[in-house]
Amino acid sequence: MSSVLNLEQINKTFVLKKNKPRLPLFTEVTLEIEKGKTLGIMGKSGAGKTTLGKIISGLEPVTSGQVKFCGKNIRELNPREFRYFRSQVQMMFQDPESALNPKKTISRILNDLRIITRLSPADHRLLTEETILQVGLHSDLLHYFPWQLSGGINQRVALARILMLKPRVIVLDEPTSALDLSTQAQILQLLKNLQQEMLISYVFISHDEAVVHWMSHRIGQLADQGFKITSSI
Ligand SMILES: Nc1ncnc2c1ncn2[C@@H]1O[C@H](COP(=O)(O)OP(=O)(O)OP(=O)(O)O)[C@@H](O)[C@H]1O
Ligand SMILES: [Mg+2]
Repeated sequence: MSSVLNLEQINKTFVLKKNKPRLPLFTEVTLEIEKGKTLGIMGKSGAGKTTLGKIISGLEPVTSGQVKFCGKNIRELNPREFRYFRSQVQMMFQDPESALNPKKTISRILNDLRIITRLSPADHRLLTEETILQVGLHSDLLHYFPWQLSGGINQRVALARILMLKPRVIVLDEPTSALDLSTQAQILQLLKNLQQEMLISYVFISHDEAVVHWMSHRIGQLADQGFKITSSI
């Protein structure tokens, strides 16, 4: 068993206004993200699932505890290593429109990734076209703006943008709950296929128990006193 990312005794407390009492959101969260596997995360609304996803992705600091990427505490990474970690652990949100700039075409949105991929324009274009096909879209779509496309297509675009970075981990935060059932089923199947092809690890956050069971190799429950694995196959 090889793990890509480990959380060790994470505590998270949001600091409210000065001198106001601090409220711990959760304490003592320890978990392991295995290579090529899906860890399902359930928990009631407000339990801190999205916050935990952001902590895993390096988007939100911890109050205490350690996030380890490939065995190394992310706080001890140098700026170059930290940028690499951030590119390798990506987060996909429920609402793709919020992640895609409405003022830019899909082509420009994907082209902006060159800052990270550092590929030549020609190689970047090739990667874009390959990835667009990989997520089941046609390259005609590159000329459109996100607001001209359906939620399901935008979610595939959001996924393409993530895949172009060749991540090892994707945190999927309710990725299909805003979509109709048949689109939801197609995207979930696509995610499963991509995981097998590319050995990506997923953290799958959802309220929908049936969907979490279908997607996950292990499932855990997040509550204020920690994270407990409740099912494992
Ligand atoms: N930046 C922030 N500053 C202060 N409090 C925050 C911040 N972000 C989230 N919270 C609070 O932390 C709690 C957990 O939020 P979070 O969004 O992580 O929960 P969740 O489990 O994802 O909920 P849901 O199932 O509704 O998506 C909420 O009470 C929220 O108001
Ligand atoms: Mg949430």
